[in-house]
Amino acid sequence: MAVIMDGKKISQDIKSQIKSETIRLKDETGIVPGLAVILVGDDPASKIYVKRKENSCKEVGFLSREFRLPHDSEEEPVIRIIHELNHDKNIHGILVQLPLPKHLDPVSIIEKIDPQKDVDGLHPWNIGRLFTGNPYHIACTPGGIMEIIDRYGIEIEGKEAVIIGRSSLVGKPLALLLLNRHATITICHTRTRHLEEIARRAEILIADVGRPEMIRKDMVKDGAVVIDVGINRLADGRLVGDVAYAEVAERASYITPVPGGVGLMTVAMLLVNTLKAASFHIPR
Ligand SMILES: NC(=O)c1ccc[n+]([C@@H]2O[C@H](COP(=O)([O-])OP(=O)(O)OC[C@H]3O[C@@H](n4cnc5c(N)ncnc54)[C@H](OP(=O)(O)O)[C@@H]3O)[C@@H](O)[C@H]2O)c1
Repeated sequence: MAVIMDGKKISQDIKSQIKSETIRLKDETGIVPGLAVILVGDDPASKIYVKRKENSCKEVGFLSREFRLPHDSEEEPVIRIIHELNHDKNIHGILVQLPLPKHLDPVSIIEKIDPQKDVDGLHPWNIGRLFTGNPYHIACTPGGIMEIIDRYGIEIEGKEAVIIGRSSLVGKPLALLLLNRHATITICHTRTRHLEEIARRAEILIADVGRPEMIRKDMVKDGAVVIDVGINRLADGRLVGDVAYAEVAERASYITPVPGGVGLMTVAMLLVNTLKAASFHIPR
């Protein structure tokens, strides 16, 4: 049976460390880390995610501000808020909640964020730094996955890693992170042929697909480390990942549960990035 990788415990450990560092930062410099979240539209899942981020900020002593815009907002008002926040000394991290309504281009909007305040790690400057092996802000979900892997002492160098899903939010940055740590990477997507065969080669298998329980036991190598990024709500209300958890856990050496795995790490890494951005302003 696989070891369950406990994202809940790791994210709590990270949060308590951030809480004490935030107290120290405030005592020594007067700086209180501040995070601003911009939400366009009223997607119910996005609202929940934004609320969670706000609550987590409060939990660790950060300042948190939320900006809500109607679903039919044009790009201009979103960019105006970003410009104001770029110059706001009390705000160190800016996040535009994704997905944006279809008529807005996320790339064009995210590009307007000051890269050092881009705590989601999605600005081309941050992606470029990751590409050159010298990252500044790392995208939160891939960063959280690396943290889980490291905290369980899993060797990455030389390992065969297969990522199913090529999203800019998860699959692509994760591939670079693993590559920078000397894994051999394969990225799969909807046009990949022989997906099952490729998945079975993986010593580290990451599913970021958005298809409930798509990864079955017969797609997993004995002793593989299985990371499930998917968060899928079934018709009966249950939350499941992209991995058929019970059967895959019989074959894997390590596995992340859903819920309680990668999802909680994403928010924890957002706090890590915001604290880092705030610490940049310490007078030296
Ligand atoms: N834990 C977290 O904090 C977190 C963060 C982000 C996302 N998620 C969850 O992760 C899942 C994916 O989200 P996302 O936004 O990263 O991805 P996305 O943009 O929806 O992309 C999904 C990827 O999976 C690929 N794919 C879909 N069906 C496939 C199939 N049958 N075979 C092979 N590849 C397939 C797609 O291929 P193509 O490129 O060819 O279309 C695409 O690259 C969702 O369940 C989401 O809720 C969780």
